[in-house]
Amino acid sequence: MRTQVAIVGAGPAGLVLAHLLARQGVESIVLESRSREYVEKRVRAGVLEHGTVDLLISTGVGERLQREGLVHHGINLLFDGQAHRIPLSELAGGRTIMVYGQQEVVKDLIAARLAAGGQIVFEAEAIGVEEMDSERPRVRYRHGAEEATLEADFVAGCDGFWGVCRPSIPEGVLTVYDKQYPFAWLGILAQTPPAGPEVMYAYNERGFALHSMRSTEISRLYLQCEPDEDLSNWPDARIWDELGVRLASGGHPLTPGPILERGVTAMRSYVVEPMQHGRLFLAGDAAHIVPPTGAKGMNLAIADVRVLAEALAAWYQSGRSDLLDSYSNTVLRRVWRAEHFSWWMTSMLHRFPEDDVFQQRLQLSQLRYVVSSRAAMTSLAENYVGLEMV
Ligand code: FAD
Ligand code: DHB
Repeated sequence: MRTQVAIVGAGPAGLVLAHLLARQGVESIVLESRSREYVEKRVRAGVLEHGTVDLLISTGVGERLQREGLVHHGINLLFDGQAHRIPLSELAGGRTIMVYGQQEVVKDLIAARLAAGGQIVFEAEAIGVEEMDSERPRVRYRHGAEEATLEADFVAGCDGFWGVCRPSIPEGVLTVYDKQYPFAWLGILAQTPPAGPEVMYAYNERGFALHSMRSTEISRLYLQCEPDEDLSNWPDARIWDELGVRLASGGHPLTPGPILERGVTAMRSYVVEPMQHGRLFLAGDAAHIVPPTGAKGMNLAIADVRVLAEALAAWYQSGRSDLLDSYSNTVLRRVWRAEHFSWWMTSMLHRFPEDDVFQQRLQLSQLRYVVSSRAAMTSLAENYVGLEMV
């Protein structure tokens, strides 16, 4: 097989890239190791930044999102026994966030791509990228019992943190920045109406908790837990009790309901530089990970491919390579901003096992400052809804 841009991975990065390229008349083929059903059901992030929403709507894939997504104008920080509201849109020039599940974004993009005659090969697992230094890079992949090759002008590695594109880059090319946290999140999706109208982040002596939602009927909740937490230690009643205690100062009692999905997510900050080698370009989780506090992961993946799509389109339309050459430097500015914001939110809101009382006093002081100073609150708000310029 041969195409112009070979895209590895049908997550938000790969699918948005294929969509944007098609709009510019650039052809691509997406290889995805999982089945369509699997990627459409994979529950992950849920908060879309203002710019992400704008992009999806303005490129024609925002119809259901506009109907079903929940626009939020604020978030709440819970500490000192009460809820402190951050009025995001008031502080960030009218910009808002939208709560709409990542798997819904993925569903909409797959439907749009296939309806437009685009090619997504499911259950096609890339096993390596070759000849990336040449003008004919190629992806080797396994599809059923067959091994095949996809040849292209460029390869986009959108295959997430555990993919094969980043490890295909020769040793010594990439600089890795990696930080792991001594805790994880136990996340649940539950069939119960959200306890409050907005997202709540709780700082609690028993550990962090987060209350979010997917619809007026479905809640999404998270608890700070051990990095190697065994889910069998968490029967439903214990999950609900613990959430109830940690979120109590929200002032909205939780109503336990059936748990539809549960999982443990490790917490990590990770960046590789540069995000390109030869004709292989990395985007999204393939190049960087943020801890989920602040909901930046999916937004960042989409911001990367927005820049990449423009650079590739410029190459095809006018032979310009300057935008491709500057891709890594351009996107890394936003990546590091999000790395800092996510690290900061994580550090402010979690209990660290090694922390002494001094550290906890510093966290509380920071929280009190954030909700009492308009300047500090604005800084949180503009990062949360997504900065236009970085
Ligand atoms: P992905 O969504 O990971 O997509 C990569 C795709 O590549 C996948 O479909 C994968 O199946 C495919 N793939 C992998 N290897 C291969 C291969 N060899 N060949 C072909 N295809 C391959 N962010 C938040 O903001 N909030 C959250 O609550 C949150 N929760 C998360 C929970 C989990 C368990 C995980 C893993 C991530 C979570 N994130 C969260 C992060 C967010 O979901 C990611 O940042 C986002 O999915 C990045 O999109 P992506 O397209 O770069 O990568
Ligand atoms: C959600 C996830 C996050 O990481 C976050 O900071 C806020 C909300 C969510 O899944 O809805």
